[in-house]
Amino acid sequence: MTNKTDRIIIFDTTLRDGEQCPGATLNIDEKLVIAKQLARLGVDVIEAGFAFASPGDFEAVKKIAEIVGTENGPVVCSLARAIKADIEAAAEALKPAVKGRIHTFISTSDIHLEYQLRKSRAEVLAIAEEMVAYAKSFMTDVEFSPMDAARTDPEFLYQVLERAIAAGATTVNIPDTVGYTTPSEFGAIIKGIIDNVPNIDQAIISVHGHNDLGLAVANFLEAVKNGARQLECTINGIGERAGNASLEELVMALHVRRQYFNPYLGRPEESQESLTNIDTRQIYKTSRLVSNLTGMLVQPNKAIVGANAFAHESGIHQDGVLKNKLTYEIMDAQLIGLTDNQIVLGKHSGRNAFRTRLKELGFELSDTELNKAFVRFKEVADKKKEISDWDLEAIVNDEIQQAPDLFRVELVQVSCGSNARPTATVTLRTPDGEELTDAAIGTGPVDAVYKAINRVVNVPNQLIEFSVQSVTAGIDAIGEVTIRLRYESKVFSGHAANTDIIVASAQAYVNALNRLYASLQTQQKPEEVTAQKV
Ligand code: KIV
Ligand code: ZN
Repeated sequence: MTNKTDRIIIFDTTLRDGEQCPGATLNIDEKLVIAKQLARLGVDVIEAGFAFASPGDFEAVKKIAEIVGTENGPVVCSLARAIKADIEAAAEALKPAVKGRIHTFISTSDIHLEYQLRKSRAEVLAIAEEMVAYAKSFMTDVEFSPMDAARTDPEFLYQVLERAIAAGATTVNIPDTVGYTTPSEFGAIIKGIIDNVPNIDQAIISVHGHNDLGLAVANFLEAVKNGARQLECTINGIGERAGNASLEELVMALHVRRQYFNPYLGRPEESQESLTNIDTRQIYKTSRLVSNLTGMLVQPNKAIVGANAFAHESGIHQDGVLKNKLTYEIMDAQLIGLTDNQIVLGKHSGRNAFRTRLKELGFELSDTELNKAFVRFKEVADKKKEISDWDLEAIVNDEIQQAPDLFRVELVQVSCGSNARPTATVTLRTPDGEELTDAAIGTGPVDAVYKAINRVVNVPNQLIEFSVQSVTAGIDAIGEVTIRLRYESKVFSGHAANTDIIVASAQAYVNALNRLYASLQTQQKPEEVTAQKV
């Protein structure tokens, strides 16, 4: 492979770097659901996790390698520190993948060397070389990252990269670990690498960056102009601190402005050919899935996938769009898979119509999942006359959610009003199968429900986020509730959809409590896992 590829490789790290943001923790089944959707989206590489970090991470990488890492599927990758045990775990977990990649890294900036690694440059050079060669002994596809590259002395960076490529790295990734660089500076770093690393033509140049200054996407686009050919990004830009570069923004910038970027990839300016392998019509669905499963809400004004991204409020804009869409729209909403929210099904629709529509929407459900989703569909259709594609998506996402089924909501009843004290009664089925009922008074109906649930579950926690969003317009709309709660230093999220927002609130809370409860039951404490993440 050389860095002369004339298209952009999309390396998705939602399941590794993305999952590192507080509360976004996913279980293995949820990771698998996302990995399958990333494969449908057409990403080239899925960084499935950090195999050595915990038994759960190891299993997730292994399962994704097995099920998604097929002949025609993406490359499946595991992160590994430049340490033998990490590399061995990555290699072992990736065994089932047809195309596997070990991504090994070590810090190279002086500040990291002095305070974190306590190693000299010479020591880091030797470790990088030795560990890339070690990774290479397990598989041919090896990626090397000099962590904090954007703040590394360029001369030292060139040396490390040269040694890593000589030892067998086929991709060299340049991380802006702390989100510090700027577009022209990052472009110059990439150009410097091409000009000064003698064997750079034997590797693909990749970029990785965080969004602390809101510049990650701009930095990457400048890197592309200077020769980077792999972009490491996450769905909805989730990730450590301010997040990672957002996949949907990068892909759509490269798509909408392909005539601008074509010459930088050696293509004729007028070429209409896509610069990535991404099926853009899968973008919106992937964004919703990741948001629902991680509990990380998408801000309404978020580029590409925010609720307002295609809404025109001003009269002048609306007038222009009605006359000619191109007056104020640079891309068609359908390009990212947003349909016109057609009314497609109702309470008389049968299982076949339900299955067919879901298939058209790109959902592949097992028979059990389909049956469960159909029961939910009928319940919703009884209350809501017309079921849109967005409702269907909310129902299915809710059903395939894989929060551990420990406590289950059996009954929620509230009494509230202008001159009443909000009171709730809840019945939960406990993990032992016992039904427990309790009641509480709160400041409002949701508060009362949560207090009643707390009396049953009895795990002290702090609610740090509560949000209700309606899936469609209309008084009978499905409400989606997303919550995040804190237990000691850990954050857990929960999500649920229902036409009754009090019921959705109770279910979302119990989902989050179930995740908390499950983490308390696992042998490895959550803090130990967090400490190993990078
Ligand atoms: O931000 C970073 O530097 C990373 C590396 C492990 C690539 O995530
Ligand atoms: Zn990172």
